Amino acid sequence: MTSKITTLLTLLFASAALAIGAHHETNKIEITGNDTMQFNSKAFTVQAGQEVTMVFKNIGKLPKAAMGHNVVILKPGSNVAAFATSAVGAVANEYIPTDDAQKALIIAHTKLLGPGEEDTITFTLPEAGEYPFVCSFPGHFALMQGIITAK
Ligand code: CO
Repeated sequence: MTSKITTLLTLLFASAALAIGAHHETNKIEITGNDTMQFNSKAFTVQAGQEVTMVFKNIGKLPKAAMGHNVVILKPGSNVAAFATSAVGAVANEYIPTDDAQKALIIAHTKLLGPGEEDTITFTLPEAGEYPFVCSFPGHFALMQGIITAK
């Protein structure tokens, strides 16, 4: 009897530890950008309504002015191409659009990074849905975009 209880408790603790581990894992995103305008992954899944930590690193070697990268997370349903087009003009703001309509689409964004640089941001995706993310450096959005799915 005692051993059955012990087994049961062990299972309970094990599953609790797994649940905590899984929870932590799902809300951390590690993403890189490189000199061929590629993110290492274009699809991530997180929990809606819970804080997400994103660590973004530019693993390229080309100068920031030629091959800078950022990650901009947009609201579900955003027109990514229109956003990226608007971003091209925002040179002084590191390609984060300054007009109100485009700004309103942004959930969060990293800094624009040069080679070897890294930035960590936190944000919360408020509800379940597909949140596009994009690098807003001119010309990059066609290759450098993906989806964060919040469940
Ligand atoms: Co880029």
